[in-house]
Amino acid sequence: MRSMAQTQVPIALTFSVLFLISISHAARSTPPPSKLKAVNLGGWLVTEGWIKPSLFDAIPNNDLLDGTQVQFKSVTQGMYLCAESGGGTIMVANRTSASGWETFKLWRITSNEFNLRVFNGEFIGLESSGDAVAVSNRPGDTETFEIVRNSGDSSRVRIKASNDLFLQAKTEISVTADYLENTNWGDDDPSVFLMTIVGTMRGEFQITNGYGTENATAVMQEHWGSFIVEDDFEFMAASGLGGVRIPVGWWIASDPTPPWPFVGGSLLALDNAFIWAEKYNLKVIIDLHAAPGSQNGFEHSGSRDGSTEWGTTQANIDQTVSVIEFLAARYAPRKCLYAIELINEPRAPSVTLESLKNYYKAGYNAVRRHTTDAYVIMSARLSADETELLQFAGGFYGAVIDVHYYNLYSDIFNSLSVQQNIDFVNNNRSRQVNTLTTSNGPLVLIGEWVAEWQVNGASKEDYQRFAKAQLEVYGRASFGWAYWTWKNVNQHWSLEWMIKNGYISLI
Ligand SMILES: *[C@@H]1O[C@H](CO)[C@@H](O)[C@H](O)[C@H]1NC(C)=O
Ligand SMILES: *[C@@H]1O[C@H](CO)[C@@H](O)[C@H](O)[C@H]1NC(C)=O
Ligand SMILES: *[C@@H]1O[C@H](CO)[C@@H](O)[C@H](O)[C@H]1NC(C)=O
Repeated sequence: MRSMAQTQVPIALTFSVLFLISISHAARSTPPPSKLKAVNLGGWLVTEGWIKPSLFDAIPNNDLLDGTQVQFKSVTQGMYLCAESGGGTIMVANRTSASGWETFKLWRITSNEFNLRVFNGEFIGLESSGDAVAVSNRPGDTETFEIVRNSGDSSRVRIKASNDLFLQAKTEISVTADYLENTNWGDDDPSVFLMTIVGTMRGEFQITNGYGTENATAVMQEHWGSFIVEDDFEFMAASGLGGVRIPVGWWIASDPTPPWPFVGGSLLALDNAFIWAEKYNLKVIIDLHAAPGSQNGFEHSGSRDGSTEWGTTQANIDQTVSVIEFLAARYAPRKCLYAIELINEPRAPSVTLESLKNYYKAGYNAVRRHTTDAYVIMSARLSADETELLQFAGGFYGAVIDVHYYNLYSDIFNSLSVQQNIDFVNNNRSRQVNTLTTSNGPLVLIGEWVAEWQVNGASKEDYQRFAKAQLEVYGRASFGWAYWTWKNVNQHWSLEWMIKNGYISLI
């Protein structure tokens, strides 16, 4: 049996013994919550380029943002540039094909100057001899390169180093910054490389650093003030929704002057969401979607280049707890605050179970210092057993476990038919929801799902059946569900579009 000390519910200490007994047998006291039907406000306070691509249109050189993965093939050698051993030593140009060691992640300094991060995390730089190496962990001037693109063919590039000379692949094993001649961009020029872009990121870091602080402030504030407005909340309520899950980034806690490159103003938008939620009687889940250092490397975690560094130091965890503390203190007095989600989609194995539990305990306590009413949501780790936190989370009064169910992002869905997708929801997902539902464990939230799949050419009726099956099965989750997302240029990913076009009805 859990002790009250463990579960941190100061208010319960004043209640009757009977009450204490009843809460000791369930993570949340009676009465059980009515099940939440919510929608995520994705792509609003944490940018995701695929949700609204036009936001990125006015960034110069907008295919070379932070985290873009590029490969360079020497036109004279016909070989790819490579950080030998993945980094820590020399640069070579002796690979006939490209994968990890031949792929570089951009850190954008200006619209045409970059640091190039290699597989092991070092940056390409120069020795005093002019030899290119990948040894520095902290990029400075000698790790900064200008990518000069051929005006007729932007994939033909030269790479200008800090000594104002161009990199050249002299031989397969000699890459040096000592080429000073002009170019006719021919295949005989050792300073010409073919650049291939093999990965892109379009998140908050990319958009704010891409525009630069001044222009980003204007672009983001315009977006925050127009993408989601009061009318949306009115329509959600009228459509049978009971709440919103709002992804926020860690920088919101230092609004209006967040650390570079993030810009201020998202806190005002969140304040507005609370005003509208109160007016239309919607519940609010605040979801820390982007944690400092990034907990999953995805663009929606505010990551610069895909690395996952969250939770690797106590200072980082403490910083994240203070973000939660800030949000809890600010919004605890609001009656529509329903829950705070401590972190979204931490990914195994980079995020260890141990550091996550440390954080969940401290984050939970931070919320409880301000409210005993709000639920505290703990996200399951991606790429891990979704039941691993059940027992742990069950030890906290008012805890909820969050899992995300997409019939996507895994090869198992590649060739499923319409009916097989629906069967998967009715059988496999249903079994998963049952497994997560335990008498002493946390409540269960399906915090993200969507009526989209890998099926091509499905009919409206197919989508309706798929959505209905999910509503039915996820409707059994003890806490409720939240659709991903409210607005999206991809129609099926927009619950607003799905409701307005008769694909989904909640009433
Ligand atoms: C590329 O050159 C380096 C340095 O000489 C060498 O260690 C490595 O084996 C070479 N790799 C290939 C595939 O030729
Ligand atoms: C901001 O945008 C304006 C107009 O689009 C542009 O001329 C200017 O160069 C941008 N400023 C920066 C710092 O990029
Ligand atoms: C779904 O569950 C069935 C057992 O009912 C199993 O055979 C099947 O492999 C599962 N499907 C996937 C895609 O995991």
